Amino acid sequence: MSKVLVTGGAGYIGSHTCVELLNAGHDVVVLDNLSNSSKEALNRVQTLTAKSVDFVEGDILDEVVLDQIFQNHQIDAVIHFAGLKAVGESQKIPLKYFENNISGSISLVQAMERANVFNLVFSSSATVYDEANISPLNEDMPTGMPSNNYGYTKLIVEQLLEKLAQADERWSIALLRYFNPVGAHKSGLMGEDPQGIPNNLMPYVTQVAVGRREKLSIFGNDYDTVDGTGVRDYIHVVDLANAHLCALNNRLNAQGCRAWNIGTGNGCSVLEIKNTFERVNGIEIPFEFAPRREGDVATSFANNARAVQELGWTAKFGLEDMLADSWNWQKQNPNGYRD
Ligand code: NAD
Ligand code: WQD
Repeated sequence: MSKVLVTGGAGYIGSHTCVELLNAGHDVVVLDNLSNSSKEALNRVQTLTAKSVDFVEGDILDEVVLDQIFQNHQIDAVIHFAGLKAVGESQKIPLKYFENNISGSISLVQAMERANVFNLVFSSSATVYDEANISPLNEDMPTGMPSNNYGYTKLIVEQLLEKLAQADERWSIALLRYFNPVGAHKSGLMGEDPQGIPNNLMPYVTQVAVGRREKLSIFGNDYDTVDGTGVRDYIHVVDLANAHLCALNNRLNAQGCRAWNIGTGNGCSVLEIKNTFERVNGIEIPFEFAPRREGDVATSFANNARAVQELGWTAKFGLEDMLADSWNWQKQNPNGYRD
C-alpha cells in the first residue's frame, strides 16, 4: 500500500478519489487551499471510510509547505488535482490561471524532485485535443490550441511533464484526460458543489431540480448531432476516481509519461441528459433553447480502449446512475456543503 499526496483533495474529483484510495488501503495526505472547496468534504470522506485524512491547508505554489509535507510523510506518489477550472473566468483573468495551474504544477514537481518522489498522476482534460479531430477521440490524435486559457494551461502542463519525463528517466507520469465528470457518491454525502452560477451542465440541471435556478438554458439546438444539441461523454465521478487508482498502480512500475482518456466511450446529447434526468428522478426540468455558447464543439466523446487495455480500468456506471446519484446528492444537500 502507498502513501499518496492528493493536491486539490477537498475538491469534487479529489474528494471522491480520497474515498477510493482509503477504501483500497492507501494512506492519504491532502494539500488544498480551499479556494474552491470546503473542509466539510474531507469530514465526509472520513465519515464514509472510517479512516483519517492528513489535511494540510495550503497552496501548491508554497514551496515551504510542500517541503514540509515531503519531510513529514514518506510519500510514494502524488495525484495532482489542484487547479482552477472555470473556462469563462480563465478568459477574464488569464494570469491567475497561468500562475495557479502552470506555475503551481512546476512548483509541485520541483518539490517532488527535491524529495525524490517521481510518481505523478495529473488531471488533464479532453479539451487538449485539436477541435478538428472527429470523435471518438483517441490518444494518438493530435492535440491543438484549446479555445480558452483554462484548456491552454492543461496543454502546457501536459507538454512540460512530457519533456520532464523525456529528460529524466526517474519520472513516471500519467496524464488522465477526463471527459465530462458527473454524478456523486452513492451515499449522497459527497458531490459537486460549485460556487456561484454553475458553468457545467449537470450542476445546473440539479440546481434547477432543487429550485435554486428557474430553468435550464440549452446552448444551441442546431448542431449536427442526433437532436441538434451538443454531445459529450459523461463519466461517473466514482469511475473517474477509480481510474486514478489504476493509473497509480500502472505508474509505480513504469517509467516515462503517457496519456489515457477517461470516458465511457458513449456520446450523449443535452436533451438526452434532460429527458433521462426527468425520467429517472421523476422531476421536470423547465428549459429554453438559447444561442450556442462560444468555444463549444458539437460532439466530443472518447475512445477509451487504451485505459481499458493498459490500466485495466472500466466504467461501471451508466447514465441513469450518474443522473440518479447527482440528484441524490443535490436533494440531500440543497446548498452543497454550506448547510
Ligand atoms: P475542484 O475545483 O472541485 O477541485 C480543485 C481543488 O483544488 C479545489 O479543492 C481547490 O480548492 C484546490 N486548489 C485550487 N488551486 C489550488 C492551489 N493553488 N493550491 C492548493 N489547492 C488548490 O475541481 P474538480 O472538478 O475536482 O477538478 C479537479 C481537477 O480536474 C482540476 O485540475 C480540473 O482542472 C481537472 N478537470 C476537471 C474536469 C471537470 O469537468 N470537473 C474536467 C477535466 C479536468
Ligand atoms: C456540456 C454540454 C454545453 C451548460 C467543460 C470544459 C472542459 C471540462 C469539462 C475541465 C455542452 C451544454 C452546458 C448549460 C448547456 N472541464 N450546456 N447549458 O463544455 O463539455 O466541458 O467541462 O477540464 O474543459 O470546457 O461541459 O458541462 O459545460 O457542457 O446547454 O447551462 O452542455 O453547451 O454541450 P463542456 P459543460
